[in-house]
Formats: sequence, structure tokens, C-alpha cells
Amino acid sequence: MSIKIQTLAGYIHEYQKSVLQPDQFWARVAESFHWHKPWTEVVRWNFTEPSVEWFVDGKLNITENMLDRYLYTKGGQTAIIYEPNDPAESAISLTYRELYERVNEFANAMKAEGVTKGDRVIIYMPMTPEAAIAMMACARIGAVHSVVFAGFSANALADRIIDCEAKMVLTADENFRGAKVVPVKAVVDEALERCPSVEKVIVLQRSGGPVTMQEGRDLWWHEAIAGQDTECPATVMDAEDMLFILYTSGSTGKPKGVVHTCGGYMVYTKFTFENVFQYKAGDIYWCTADVGWITGHSYIVYGPLLAGATTLMFEGVPTYPDAGRFWDIVDKHQVNQFYTAPTAIRALQAYGTEPLEGKDLSSLKVLGTVGEPINEEAWHWYHDHIGKGRCPIVDTWWQTETGGIMMSPIAGIIPTKPAYATLPLPGIQPVIVDHEGNELTGNSVEGNLCIKFPWPSMIRTTYGDHERCRQTYFSQFPGMYFTGDGVKRDEDGYYRILGRVDDVINVSGHRMGTAEVENAINEHPKVIESAVVGYPHDIKGQGIYAFVIANMEGRTEENLEQEIRTTVTNIIGPIARPDKIQLVPGLPKTRSGKIMRRILRKISEGITDDFGDTSTLLDPEVVAQIIAGRK
Ligand code: WTA
Repeated sequence: MSIKIQTLAGYIHEYQKSVLQPDQFWARVAESFHWHKPWTEVVRWNFTEPSVEWFVDGKLNITENMLDRYLYTKGGQTAIIYEPNDPAESAISLTYRELYERVNEFANAMKAEGVTKGDRVIIYMPMTPEAAIAMMACARIGAVHSVVFAGFSANALADRIIDCEAKMVLTADENFRGAKVVPVKAVVDEALERCPSVEKVIVLQRSGGPVTMQEGRDLWWHEAIAGQDTECPATVMDAEDMLFILYTSGSTGKPKGVVHTCGGYMVYTKFTFENVFQYKAGDIYWCTADVGWITGHSYIVYGPLLAGATTLMFEGVPTYPDAGRFWDIVDKHQVNQFYTAPTAIRALQAYGTEPLEGKDLSSLKVLGTVGEPINEEAWHWYHDHIGKGRCPIVDTWWQTETGGIMMSPIAGIIPTKPAYATLPLPGIQPVIVDHEGNELTGNSVEGNLCIKFPWPSMIRTTYGDHERCRQTYFSQFPGMYFTGDGVKRDEDGYYRILGRVDDVINVSGHRMGTAEVENAINEHPKVIESAVVGYPHDIKGQGIYAFVIANMEGRTEENLEQEIRTTVTNIIGPIARPDKIQLVPGLPKTRSGKIMRRILRKISEGITDDFGDTSTLLDPEVVAQIIAGRK
């Protein structure tokens, strides 16, 4: 039996055990899984190299713990409910048995196309069950998946394919997203012009729209699975073999490939899913994320299916065909646990309560939020209008790098407080440090959030560049994992996440490096230099504000701004398009040439004085000019 927390005293008790005797604690959780060979040591680690191994020498296959395990006990139970983009198209349910067969069949198809253990496979697909099937089929045969959000551009996709030297790409003809039809296969074709490692592309027929199939390279999904056996022996993996790579943005350079491994990720995602959401057999659970992000990995696919749950996948967007869509789906499928992002809550809140009329939300038991700080107003709206004051809100703080939820109320057990992630889950040892790395103990303190002890689903490395992993997460505060987030511990010992303290911004719950957006802007031939900051945005949480120095010859401000937006869309994708672009004569720099972003951030927020210490500023006149032209 795994550990299921049922009372506040139970939480306190397990938390204490997890800190005092982490080996015994995690062994107890891990024992509830099927292992081909048990581990010889629970955890072996140091945060200097860093080197982290969990369940050392243990052998397993994660899909056996999601599929084979439930074949006889829950074969007829629904594993995945698929709600298509268009409400007129029927929803589809897959039982555990059907899912088992479809994963095995597709695993065999991939094998037939030459994929073997350790090969990297890119998944660039719509939110249909095939995306989840593709992930599990990779895991079945020991291939390493890297899901790329299908809103990324051909260029961003190519960067990821090249970085991990993927052998195969899984995609669709076209994706449906709201009223839009996105030609994803065409995007893949463009990306592959500079990706020599890719040998095969398997294409799901979703829209039936026109695509070009390259002879010898591209094949249809339905052709690939035709005649394949629905049994595929699971490849036995070492606990520390790679399960997947997921690219995410940091403060510098290109996105990095966060590496997660089989054993620890399996143990932690199931444990946190069951406890945080208090999932009970028969419940219908829905997380609205996309499988392109970590939330989709851990809490649409892996966590829920490891727990034998029924997980709903929604292909569309919250406002299509109208702003009542989420609530229609909750009503239609009688959803019990609903997990979404603050940006979606704020966007729907803006439509008022009219879209809720006539919708039965009484099935809801637990509401969740993730991805960015939730403001109190949105928290109350969610609590009052969606949860009708009955449903606890689990404000779950975590990251791509942490693999699973780190701090969150346990639904119905840890008392909530608006905008607070409340307390760490068992096994998680947060510390707050000041700029010099001194630990701030006691309550009512604020500083940088670090974690001082490993947990099973933590990042192992950044793909192909371990030094980058060390530098990014383990060098600023030696001996600890640094999250990049600021945090406050209040008088009750409750944690509130304050947002990033580095140059990462969070736009509609999507993580972006300001440097990444600047590099994209700088690709425009007329741009000389740029600086990007996040500014408070009512719906998105943060918006993107770009200050740009450009050569205006032959351009009006308007058409240059438009061109810059197009450049960013082409290089990264629409999610990185600046909300505001201000053409400026210069940027505020220090004598040593460093941009003083602090000043730009304040200007973007509408603050035009009180810039703090500006003694190192090279040319104060530039600041006055920027203020005068503020957007
Ligand atoms: C932010 C998403 C406040 C945080 C799972 C973190 C949050 C970054 C919360 C990771 C929350 C995530 N409250 N902020 N409940 N959850 N964040 O990698 O800044 O896409 O560092 O992972 O989102 O974003 P990522």
C-alpha cells in the first residue's frame, strides 16, 4: 500500500517521518509499485556535481505500472475520456484494456520503424489520446520522448530536435484549436529541413486536410499500426534510465532539456496525484493543461494513469465555441477534480457568471491551480462561483524541473488560504535564503526559495550539458537546489510564492526567458538592440514589454512593430509575441554596459520615479526619453 494522507495529524506525522527517515518513507511508497528487481539503496546523492539517484539498481517499466497492473482489476474501467475541440464531435472513452492494447500496438509500430531503447522521439501532436498513447509507447520500449507544445514554431521545434538528436517525430496532419486549424505537419516539414537526425515521421490523421508525405520518411499512424500485435513486451529499465526530456526556458540562452528518469518520477507523480487531489476510485479527474508542458506529463498522463484513475483530455480552448465550454465539459462528464491555470480562471472571470448559468457543477469536489501565482480576487471567484464555496482549492507550486507538485494544500485536509501554496508535501524540505545564501529560519520571512534535500522526481541533468544544470540550479546557493522563485513564509508558517526572481517571466502560465525573446527580436534586420521585461497584466499574469532600438529607415513605427511581432512568432511561436513594443533611442546601461532591467521593469509598471540607486547609470537622459515614450 502506498501512503495516503487522510487527516491533518496524518500529514504532520508523515511529513516528520519523511524528513527524519527519508529512506524508510520513500521505500514504503515505492513498495506499492511493480519492480522487476528491487533497489539496493533508496537514494544516493550530492548537490555539488550534482548527482542524484533514486531506487539505485531498481528495475522497472513505468507502463506496466499504468496498464498491465490494471488490466485484470480495471480492464473495463475508463482510463481516458477524450473531449474533442468541436462539441458536435462525440467524446471518446478508452478503457484500461483498450489503452493497453493501443499503447502496445503503437509501441510495436515504432519498433518496426527502427526505434530502440534510448532513442529520442519528438511528439508534436494535438491533445488527443494518441498523444498520451505515443508517450506511453515510447516508455514501453525505453525510447525517450520529448513532447514539444504544438504552438511552437518550426524554428523552435527544430532547435529541440537538433539538441536531442531525435530519430523520429510523431505528429498529425492538422490540429484543431478553437476556430483555428493549425497545419502541424507543414510545420514539421519546415523544421526537418535542418534536422538530419530524423529518419521517420508518423502522422496521425486528425483533420483529413492536405499534407505532403515524403516518400521513405513519412507514414500514416493508421498504416503504421495496421497488423501490429497488441502485446508488446515492456523493456526493463533501470530506475535511473531516462524517461523523457522536456525543454523549458531559463534566464539565459536557449531552452534547456530537463531530464527525468523512470523510477523516481513514477513514484513521486503517483504519490502526489493521489494525495493532493484526494482522488477516489471512480472519480473523473480533469486537468486542462496541454501535454506539451510538465503539468500535462505528470498530471494528465503519468500520475493519474499510475493511480488507475479516469483522466479527461480536452483538445480545445476555454472560449470555444463560447466562454462556457469548461463548465459544459464539467457538467457533461460530471468531473470531480478540476485542475487549471490562474490565467484561464482570470480570462473566464472576465465573462462574468452568465456562462455558468444552467451548468451543473455539483459533481466538483476539488479545484486546483498551477503555473503562476494566483491573485486573491481570482482565487475567490474560483472558490465562490465554480466551487460554490464547497470545494477546497489546491494551489500547487512546482516546476518542470521538480517533476511533481512540491507545495500544495492536500485537498480537504490542509486548511487553505487564498494565494498560498500553504505547506510542503512529505519529502520536500524547503528553505528560504537571503542573497548571500544565509538560511532565514522562523516565520514571517521572505527570500529565495531553495530545497535542501532531494526528492524522487527532481531534475537529473540538462540534456547534453550537465554543467549547465549545475550552474543554473546548484551553484548560486551551494548545497541546495535553487528554484528561481521568491517566497514568503507567513506568521503561520504558510508559504506564498511571490514569482520569479530571475529573468524568467510567466505569461499566461507559460514560462519564457527574457533573453530568449530578446534574441528573437534581435533577429529582425532593423533591430540594433532590445530589452524585454514582464509587466503586470490583468489576464495573463505577466505581459511582455519590449524596449527596442532600431534603425527606422524605410519603416514606420507601426509596420516595424508588426514585423517584430511576426519575427518573434516565427522564431519561437505566438506565445512569445510582445504585448507592447516601444521603440527607444537607447537603453539604460551601467558604465560597464549592463542593461539596468530594474529601471525598465519599473517603467513598464508605470512607475516613473523612485528607481533606487542609479549612480552607476551611464546616461540618465535615456531614462527620461523612455519614460516620455512609454506605452
Ligand atoms: C511558477 C509549471 C505560484 C513558478 C508546473 C515556477 C507558480 C514556474 C505556481 C514553473 C503556483 C508554478 N504559484 N507560482 N502554484 N506553480 N509557478 O516549469 O514561478 O512551467 O518557478 O512548471 O511557474 O513553471 P513550469
